[in-house]
Amino acid sequence: MACALIDLRTNRMCGGGGHLRSNHRFRAKEGGDPWSLNFREDEIMPVIEGFVALSHAPFWDPDVLVEGPGAAFVKGVDRARALVRDKKPDALVIFGPDHFRNFFYDVLPSFCIGLEKLTGFGDYGTPKGDMPVDQELARAIHTSVIEAGFDPAFSLNMGADHGITQPCAVFDQSHKLPIVPIMINCAGAPRPPMRRCYEFGKAVGDAIRSAPGNKRVVIVGSGGLSHWVRPASADNPETTAETLEYAINGRNRAVEYSAERDAFLQERIDNGINGKVNADWDNWFLKCLTSGDIEPLLALTDAEIDEVAGNGAHELRSWIAAAGAWGGSSEVFSYEPVPSWVTGMGCIGGSTPV
Ligand SMILES: [Fe+2]
Repeated sequence: MACALIDLRTNRMCGGGGHLRSNHRFRAKEGGDPWSLNFREDEIMPVIEGFVALSHAPFWDPDVLVEGPGAAFVKGVDRARALVRDKKPDALVIFGPDHFRNFFYDVLPSFCIGLEKLTGFGDYGTPKGDMPVDQELARAIHTSVIEAGFDPAFSLNMGADHGITQPCAVFDQSHKLPIVPIMINCAGAPRPPMRRCYEFGKAVGDAIRSAPGNKRVVIVGSGGLSHWVRPASADNPETTAETLEYAINGRNRAVEYSAERDAFLQERIDNGINGKVNADWDNWFLKCLTSGDIEPLLALTDAEIDEVAGNGAHELRSWIAAAGAWGGSSEVFSYEPVPSWVTGMGCIGGSTPV
């Protein structure tokens, strides 16, 4: 048996994470402090303490001081860092895409939850090698979302590229904070619809809140905003035959292909080539998401996104899913169109648990 103080107004543990299960029957210790209650550890639920979503970009090194383009975005990220730090999370649940480094068209799930081993690809200076996974929470989420009617893939040996590992580096420089990696297929059509991503995210949020233990969790969404990248999706007529062949069968050539991508991007930097960004659309997206007017976002089609925000903006599925898991309010911390990073760079966050 464990003993702890409970704030009876909120049903939450004082000084730590965890909600009491709503159907829990408890009583004060006889002759003891009436505010000190007996309950079992397995009857305390995790709390989703906070939510952040942000753009990632190969051109951005979170460990380097940014001056000039990108500095306004990073200022908002600093606020998100403080939010995460203040919440003292036991785990981060991160929704993010892969960029044909770990998931290919040979078998491409809409969603995949990493349950055991996670290996960072190490692209663009992001974490490489073994990364810590909260296996207990990951398995609880997977079991729960299946019971809720979703069929995500799972992996006991998952890889992640900068879509997931860059936010890890942003919010945990020690690289020791356990995460639950949830890959959303944003790269290769047919992708899961926005609405499906939102509903899946909500199921993940419900799963976290009903999982065993008293963990403090922060939700992270990673991707977008508007940007146009070299096409690799099977539905894009501009995808070259060579790129499509890689996207289908390139699993064993990912390191070489990634190096070639690095060189391609470095050449763009060296030549001062900027990317296209749609700041008006980005601001509309951020306003809808943070104001709770999410229906227009859930109705977005792939064709609309391709047209107005670029093929890179399909990654906003990660923001949508993360917002669904969070379920609470949020606000824009920063937004800056950064053509030299080829991306609309934005950051939002919420800190009041539902
Ligand atoms: Fe990306």
